[in-house]
Amino acid sequence: EKGGYEHFMLKEIHEQPKALRDTLTSRLYDDKKEIVLDKIKLGKEELDKINRIYIVACGTAYHAGLIGKYSIEKYARIPVEADIASEFRYRNPIIDEKTLLILISQSGETADTLAAMRLAKQKGARVMAVTNVVGSSVSREADDVLYTWAGPEIAVASTKAYTTQLACMYMIALHLGMLKGTVNEEELTKIQESLKASPEMVEKVIKKESAIKEFAYDKFNVRDVFFLGRGSDYYASLEGSLKMKEISYIHSEAYPAGELKHGPIALIEEGTVVIALCTQTELLEKMMSNIKEVKARGAYVVALAKESDKAIEKEADKVFYIPDTQDDIAPIPTVVILQILAYYLSVARGCDVDKPRNLAKSVTVE
Ligand code: M6R
Repeated sequence: EKGGYEHFMLKEIHEQPKALRDTLTSRLYDDKKEIVLDKIKLGKEELDKINRIYIVACGTAYHAGLIGKYSIEKYARIPVEADIASEFRYRNPIIDEKTLLILISQSGETADTLAAMRLAKQKGARVMAVTNVVGSSVSREADDVLYTWAGPEIAVASTKAYTTQLACMYMIALHLGMLKGTVNEEELTKIQESLKASPEMVEKVIKKESAIKEFAYDKFNVRDVFFLGRGSDYYASLEGSLKMKEISYIHSEAYPAGELKHGPIALIEEGTVVIALCTQTELLEKMMSNIKEVKARGAYVVALAKESDKAIEKEADKVFYIPDTQDDIAPIPTVVILQILAYYLSVARGCDVDKPRNLAKSVTVE
């Protein structure tokens, strides 16, 4: 059942190109200047009434939600707040008929996410769900549903559900932007092309598996890891940091790189491992200076960057490259590297990869 892989997690990492293809191809067309989102009924008229969007989810799904916020604000110019379901439901959020709630849940059964949905519906909000399970509670109760066609995800650590959630977030952002008239055809074509190329990008990244494994085995006894990034890279680093905590039990933190000087730099000392995500073109220079700052305090820096940004090799101790791509899509290949890294750190440390201690696949109680 593991298809020759040692763990479900590794199998699911390898299934990502297919999962992405299945999620994207029926919705993106070469000949149409639109994105066809299944049975999503939310049309222009309804959308024009919406003045606020919340994206609510837990764990990995919340991290996909942060990228969703970034993309929807960029392409559809509607204010979006991404929130953790257990926070959202208890903070008396401002919800009315002009609110759109987007829920993200692999299982569609997470207790806090369901509670957030019911609260929002009660107050008159429209609810759109992104889920991986047909017939799940979320899919039955939401007004609109968009499925991630990732197939069953067995490992507790989410991998293919996350990358397909990202694909859905980009498609929703573009769809809303087209309805709003805030995305032009040129932009649409450009990002659609990159999205269509994402399965292939992931295939390329997976080919680096043995190099990432070697690195993980070499560093298996690190105690703390700091992830730094800016913009989408920061959101991707939150996910990389969660993967590391969950399955390899290494203490890790993800910080927006600009926050370094506001506290966390105090923790950097000789040999501290810093993973710096540097895939965002406009923020690259800023990341380079942050790398210099931590290097000056003795950090060992692993950078993730786009293939053509070779200058990074002058600053970092080790670089893993993703294929060149449109910046917004970069989190997809980037996170796959971080998944593989967390996986091999977990294996090297003898942890139970698929069933990490204290965790359940689906959190159906508070
Ligand atoms: O089924 P859901 O997407 O609602 O689950 C949300 C989280 O419990 C889940 O993403 C969790 O954080 C994973 N273990 C992450 O790998």
